[in-house]
Amino acid sequence: MPTTTSQICSSWCWLCWVIRRLEFASNVLQHGSRESHLSVDIYDEVGIGGGASGVAGGLLHPYSPKVKLLWRGAECWNETLNLLHIAEGALLKLVNQGKCETLENNESPIVRRRGILRPAINLKNMKIMTENAQNCIANCRIEPIHEDAAQNLVPNLSVPLNLAFFMPQALNINAQSYLEGLYLACQNLVNDMSTLGHVHRELHFHQKSVQSLLDLAGEYDAVIICLGARAVFLPELSGKLPLRTCRGIITHLQLGDDIREEYPKHSPSILSDAWLAVHGARRMDLGSTWDWKSMDYSRNVTTDEASKAMEVLLPKASSIYPTIKNWTVTGAVGGLRAMPPLTADGSLPLLGCIDNYVDGSATCKYWLFTGLGARGLLFHGWLGKLLAQAVLSHDENLIPFELTLWKHKLHQ
Ligand SMILES: Cc1cc2nc3c(=O)[nH]c(=O)nc-3n(C[C@H](O)[C@H](O)[C@H](O)COP(=O)(O)OP(=O)(O)OC[C@H]3O[C@@H](n4cnc5c(N)ncnc54)[C@H](O)[C@@H]3O)c2cc1C
Ligand SMILES: *[C@@H]1O[C@H](CO)[C@@H](O)[C@H](O)[C@H]1NC(C)=O
Ligand SMILES: *[C@@H]1O[C@H](CO)[C@@H](O)[C@H](O)[C@H]1NC(C)=O
Ligand SMILES: *[C@@H]1O[C@H](CO)[C@@H](O)[C@H](O)[C@H]1NC(C)=O
Ligand SMILES: *[C@@H]1O[C@H](CO)[C@@H](O)[C@H](O)[C@H]1NC(C)=O
Repeated sequence: MPTTTSQICSSWCWLCWVIRRLEFASNVLQHGSRESHLSVDIYDEVGIGGGASGVAGGLLHPYSPKVKLLWRGAECWNETLNLLHIAEGALLKLVNQGKCETLENNESPIVRRRGILRPAINLKNMKIMTENAQNCIANCRIEPIHEDAAQNLVPNLSVPLNLAFFMPQALNINAQSYLEGLYLACQNLVNDMSTLGHVHRELHFHQKSVQSLLDLAGEYDAVIICLGARAVFLPELSGKLPLRTCRGIITHLQLGDDIREEYPKHSPSILSDAWLAVHGARRMDLGSTWDWKSMDYSRNVTTDEASKAMEVLLPKASSIYPTIKNWTVTGAVGGLRAMPPLTADGSLPLLGCIDNYVDGSATCKYWLFTGLGARGLLFHGWLGKLLAQAVLSHDENLIPFELTLWKHKLHQ
């Protein structure tokens, strides 16, 4: 535990928490009222992007596999764009200061902006997909296109039903760079605010493991638990959360040296039963597997695990992009997803105060933020903002009720 305890926990500094999600820190620092002192401690055993977030595929759009707008998809989409902009700004500042290598043709250090293409592969869903696509949002349009147009976007793409959905504004994020950019932005925010005087903000990162929530009890006014799937490993929460864990593997692919035809510069990434997240003319990621009930959260993937993953992923990928066979595997990473239950609104994250599990009290000191499923990139920003507001106002009701419903169901 930090040696600065007494300073951190003096009465004026009333908020600290266990978080990994740097976005929250950014939100709290922004939303904390101007007069109050605020100190945020982040604990992560591994480091920035140490869990699933650091390995995530990075395909970002607000739609379901049937291209239906997800629950609060418009709000989530806007807030993610906002945070991406903040993180990009922080990294570009470094580049401009010459502290970081320069980028080719003003490319973003975080985002590949080429859109995402989803060929229809199921006859049964074609009608509903076409209907759903009509209800898309203006700043992430969905364009139904035919085979020839789709192959103009991605040469050699297979479009079995002569229908594909193109999302020109959808993005492909480098998740690890994004998180690093966000953390940098948080640090800049703290420094800028201190320079302005009269407001006091602190941000500290501790590369430490948290074994039990009660270990932190005396030190903080608020504790936010965002340990991803590993929230279920905490002694206080073990067996109490309606979460299922699911391991995913992503393989890194490179185009063989002897192959001349590169992936075109302006071509989108591809979504299907498997997805292809393009990172350059000769580099892409292929994901991902779904190993339900796995408890393995390691980023490391054994050779055996990687080849089993390829056995699953390659047939799915080559059924829509046969040329994938000319790409070779250069590595693989894994992560553990925290899968929430399916509700009428879809699979929604689990948020809310959980003091009754920790020390039996009815106050709101311990807050949970988990169950981001396979959509952390979409959900984190908007929900992080709402949670920060709820924590700072001591008011759980600022969180949409759909996200705290799981608590009531547990008591039925
Ligand atoms: C293979 C794969 C591909 C994915 N692709 C996408 C995608 O393309 N788009 C998308 O939106 N989502 C994707 N996801 C889902 C996304 O990664 C998750 O929804 C999201 O990252 C969850 O974020 P989190 O902060 O809740 O958990 P995590 O990112 O797992 O963060 C938890 C952090 O807590 C730390 N920690 C855990 N326990 C402790 C402890 N006891 N003490 C200290 N620190 C601890 C860990 O080190 C980790 O850094 C993917 C997931 C996987 C596995
Ligand atoms: C999202 O942002 C767009 C563009 O700025 C705006 O028109 C739209 O109303 C926003 N949507 C929501 C739900 O905030
Ligand atoms: C891929 O498409 C290009 C351009 O349309 C064509 O020249 C090439 O022969 C195709 N390759 C394969 C393997 O189909
Ligand atoms: C993963 O691999 C790295 C580098 O080889 C090693 O240091 C680390 O301990 C491994 N982690 C796990 C959880 O096995
Ligand atoms: C792989 O590349 C070679 C050489 O460019 C080409 O002839 C072949 O058709 C490609 N294979 C596939 C499956 O695209």
